[in-house]
Amino acid sequence: MKLYFRLYLLLPFLIILINCKEQPAKPTGVVTNKAMVVTAREEASAIGAEILKKGGNAFDAMVATEMALVVAYPFAGNLGGGGFMVYRKSNGDSGAIDYREKAPLSAHKDMYLDSLGNVIPGKSTVGATAVGVPGTIAGIFEVHEKFGSLPIKDILEPVITLAEKGVVVTEKQEARLEKYGEQILKVNGDKTLFFNTCKKGDTLKYSALANTLKRISQNGRDEFYKGETAQKLTSFIQEKGGYVTMADLAKYKAEWRQPITFNYKGLTIISMSPPSSGGVTMNQIFKMIEPYQISEFGHNSTKTIQLFTEASRRAYADRNYFLGDPDFVDIPLDVLLSKKYLEERMQDFTFDKATLSSDIERGKVQTNESSETTHYSIVDEEGNAVSVTTTLNGAYGSKLYCDELGFFLNNEMDDFSSKPGVPNMFGLIGAEANSIAAEKRMLSSMTPTIVEKDGKLWMVVGSPGGSTIITAVAQTILNTYEFKMSMQEAVNAPRFHHQWLPDYIIFETEGFSKNVKEELKSKGYIINEGRTPILGKVDAIRVLPDGRLEGGADKRGDDTAVGF
Ligand code: GLY
Repeated sequence: MKLYFRLYLLLPFLIILINCKEQPAKPTGVVTNKAMVVTAREEASAIGAEILKKGGNAFDAMVATEMALVVAYPFAGNLGGGGFMVYRKSNGDSGAIDYREKAPLSAHKDMYLDSLGNVIPGKSTVGATAVGVPGTIAGIFEVHEKFGSLPIKDILEPVITLAEKGVVVTEKQEARLEKYGEQILKVNGDKTLFFNTCKKGDTLKYSALANTLKRISQNGRDEFYKGETAQKLTSFIQEKGGYVTMADLAKYKAEWRQPITFNYKGLTIISMSPPSSGGVTMNQIFKMIEPYQISEFGHNSTKTIQLFTEASRRAYADRNYFLGDPDFVDIPLDVLLSKKYLEERMQDFTFDKATLSSDIERGKVQTNESSETTHYSIVDEEGNAVSVTTTLNGAYGSKLYCDELGFFLNNEMDDFSSKPGVPNMFGLIGAEANSIAAEKRMLSSMTPTIVEKDGKLWMVVGSPGGSTIITAVAQTILNTYEFKMSMQEAVNAPRFHHQWLPDYIIFETEGFSKNVKEELKSKGYIINEGRTPILGKVDAIRVLPDGRLEGGADKRGDDTAVGF
């Protein structure tokens, strides 16, 4: 009786304690009442938000935002590349579209090898030979046809105006152009019309791009795949020694895909399916860590880093071996994502010491995606959400810039394994699943994701960052859900990454104590002290309990949330 009485007295404190634990973090990012767009550039976010304000839905805003990024963020925003979109409509229906680039019809497994079977340096990364068949215009028109509500002309109008009026160079853009300007000149010659040297505060106008967009606005999707633009584009690529032909463009089609959907504790996570590895790999990571009370270990604590690293190590090993274009490769998803398999995968994990990647079976390839991609997140007034990651692959793609049309071409062919089956200098073997074939899509790590909590829209999230995209997105979700951060805090928080091979953990510069690193080393973890890059650049939106939206615009870039 006495014990019951004591418990009774404690009840109010227990209730407060439980409530505190369950209270979502107070927002620290931009908060809006109804709708929001978060992208790598303020100009693109503003155009997306303008379309929403005009009464357009999230899908209309997707079309405008994707095109605005071509103007405002030529580093990764693209007409000459491809991407993925995951969506969740206000009625709870979800889906995905794949407008990833494809290998040209003339492509074949050995196209980047010399007569001795060695990879020819640069052939799949720089210039016209690196270009895959672009998918972006097919993607946005497919989305518009299925879900759009405003006429395409109204959607593209502010984008064309932006291209004509120009975009003001930011400090970060100046630094990017300084870094890549010389390579752009080398590929295009010094007569190129692309501004390769400019200073913060300069205004860059893109009249050739504005004309291309006007033709697309007038003539629709076929302008890019069959019309004058197609003719000019293919003549240009072929003149420069590339492979993309009119037949390639005419055959290109964006594909609707079933997203990867899984539960993690109280969340439902909806993410991109193959040919992206994002959803599958993230599903594996979350399911491997789910049995642990990671929130009790603490954010970026030794135990949290260990658990996340070991799950990533195992998931990336599978990623590299099994995943490829589902239209060409049978992927054993039912096994890879089964509870039994993932439990077995973690059976040898212990907090006492690191597992060596050399002891992990499967996945014998090197991942070599570049980190220069871009992500944007949109929620409209109705509660429709889109999560889009789009790419040229490298910074300014292949660096090949078509002066006449006003945009860069991708170097996405490098996302294939150029030399499967043969050990490289590290003794790694490329995966057959991602070998080159005509019309095949190359494996990606892009992970546009939407998260539901209690059956309702809770988060829209994604990132650039090549193979580090998956861990950046997963850590952002964990930061918010397990470590109770606001959206902006979760996006800003320091990140780490492990991808099976090379067998080391990469840490961002700030936020990881010497103590934690020493502890990890004492358990056998290898830490890459030399390389401390930015890991991802996350743009996300969180739905607050009262329905308002909090933006998470990554402080690592010029990223901005705009809404109303
Ligand atoms: N090109 C980067 C990616 O698709 O992951």
